[in-house]
Amino acid sequence: MMDIKSATFVSSFTDYRQCPDINIPEYAFVGRSNVGKSSLINMLLDRKNLAKTSQTPGKTQLINYFLINDTWHLVDLPGYGFAKVKKSIRKDFNRIIKDYAAYRKNLVCLFVLIDSRHKPQNNDILFMKWLGENQVPFVMVFTKIDKLSELALKKNIDFYQEQMLQHWEILPEMFFTSAEKKNGREKMLGYINQLNQL
Ligand code: GTP
Ligand code: MG
Repeated sequence: MMDIKSATFVSSFTDYRQCPDINIPEYAFVGRSNVGKSSLINMLLDRKNLAKTSQTPGKTQLINYFLINDTWHLVDLPGYGFAKVKKSIRKDFNRIIKDYAAYRKNLVCLFVLIDSRHKPQNNDILFMKWLGENQVPFVMVFTKIDKLSELALKKNIDFYQEQMLQHWEILPEMFFTSAEKKNGREKMLGYINQLNQL
């Protein structure tokens, strides 16, 4: 288990080309607007409002960098595909995210967040397909599991996996989390810790 000894906000960027020019491992959180990226980051880091959260989708609009234990970066990305954000801005977000995922050399693993309450959404499926085609390493993180009964959660996950198996031969690693109840913290930090050793 990894202790979080320090977690500090570094800066925000609009483009992967501006991101810190320092060669340490980096993990980024991505997913639809409001899926719980910033909340999950705060939960993992055990910091109340380090990453800004909001009930209004579209809160995170930049690439936000956090330095952890002085040895690795955690990155909060803007949400993709939120319908109420102006179309031109939505397009910009998608560009920012895809450029970052495709070209950022330090990126070790992308955490794709999925709201565990919802059926597979087309833009999530398409985004992961795009990641596969572009050889971006990623895992799936189901969020807000506290909002479902155990049975409903299992049903949704089973259905999601079935759908994924139509595009994928092997499923990516999956984590099940609640920022509210702190589920999944040890597993995710352990996973990052393992990758940091490589
Ligand atoms: P954008 O930055 O707008 O893309 O959103 P985000 O993905 O960063 O989501 P954020 O963390 O701001 O959370 C959105 C809303 O979901 C907030 O009202 C959170 O309180 C709520 N939320 C996030 N995670 C959880 C969770 O695990 N359980 C519950 N019950 N609510 C959550
Ligand atoms: Mg956010």
